[in-house]
Amino acid sequence: MYVPENVVTNDDLAKQIDTSDEWIVKRSGIRERRWVVEGQTPVDLAEAASREALADAGLEASDIDCILLSTLSPQHDFPGTSFFLHGRLGVAEIPCIDLRAQCSGFLYALDFADALIVSGRHRRILVVGCEVHSTGLEISDRGRDVTVLFGDGAGAVILEANDAPEDPSGLLEIRLHAEGRHAKRLWVDAPGSANGPARLTHEMIDEGRIYPIMDGRFVFKHAVTRMPEVLRETLDAASLKLEDVDLFLFHQANLRINEYVAQQLEIPADKVFNNIERYGNCSAAAIPMLLAEAKREGRLKKGDLVSMTAFGSGFTWASALLRF
Ligand code: COA
Repeated sequence: MYVPENVVTNDDLAKQIDTSDEWIVKRSGIRERRWVVEGQTPVDLAEAASREALADAGLEASDIDCILLSTLSPQHDFPGTSFFLHGRLGVAEIPCIDLRAQCSGFLYALDFADALIVSGRHRRILVVGCEVHSTGLEISDRGRDVTVLFGDGAGAVILEANDAPEDPSGLLEIRLHAEGRHAKRLWVDAPGSANGPARLTHEMIDEGRIYPIMDGRFVFKHAVTRMPEVLRETLDAASLKLEDVDLFLFHQANLRINEYVAQQLEIPADKVFNNIERYGNCSAAAIPMLLAEAKREGRLKKGDLVSMTAFGSGFTWASALLRF
């Protein structure tokens, strides 16, 4: 994983907009987040995370045969962010794919990477989640409900074909869902090709249509329903029980959502690992960042059963069961 060095505390935000450390901590659990400094790009973060993943796996960039990258805050409109990463890493002329599924983006990418490996199409895939939210947030009282929640960061994993019958590690089950009729409950309108004759006008900027709009309570309600539902679905598919899971990783949108989900499922607090208080919501980067920190802190050991669950804009929701 990689996050920018620049720490933005709740008190820093309260100097610019009408909010407070108390409000943010009480509603979301967030204490600080990392925001890029001028000149730092999503691919800077993605490259650093990818190089760490390669080093951790003892591999070279030339060993990778496909890149899958998830983001909702792309480097540019086109080409996809994965191509800019491709250009940096020194990989061979391998394919790369951008995948857009917002806060469930990493789990969506994991599922497609797994399918490509199981089909025999690829053997070793770099899966990346990276976000620079801070350059797209409205730093004003109008945007305060969304602005205080989001951070910048990147996380990466390498998925490899496992031919060893004695090694049980790998993805056991994964389930993805979407409900597109709620697409505008958490979205950004402009720039967009739907806004003809021009994707972006001065009026759109003045009206704030370039910033995310969120129906916070509606999102909260759906997240706390869908996350336990899909988590149980993966467990049932794998014929496993909640008690079998060693570590639960939930998307880091709001600590209150995760506490509510854990409480509903009667998951003991010591089996849940969160880092939202330090990073805010990093969308597609959140789960690989959790994986990296859990491993670094000794919370994730070889052989552990890990459950990863996300919910986000789209609406999207997903859960995966991994034998580490
Ligand atoms: N600082 C201070 N006050 C704020 C604020 C901020 N940053 N943002 C909103 N408020 C105010 C509102 O204006 C409102 O004031 P009012 O009562 O005078 O009208 C009050 O706080 C309550 O706002 P409300 O939106 O009802 O709060 P909430 O309890 O629903 O909490 C969220 C807001 C955003 C924390 C919560 O809805 C949430 O977490 N939703 C899910 C978000 C999410 O997960 N998004 C990403 C999905 S991937």
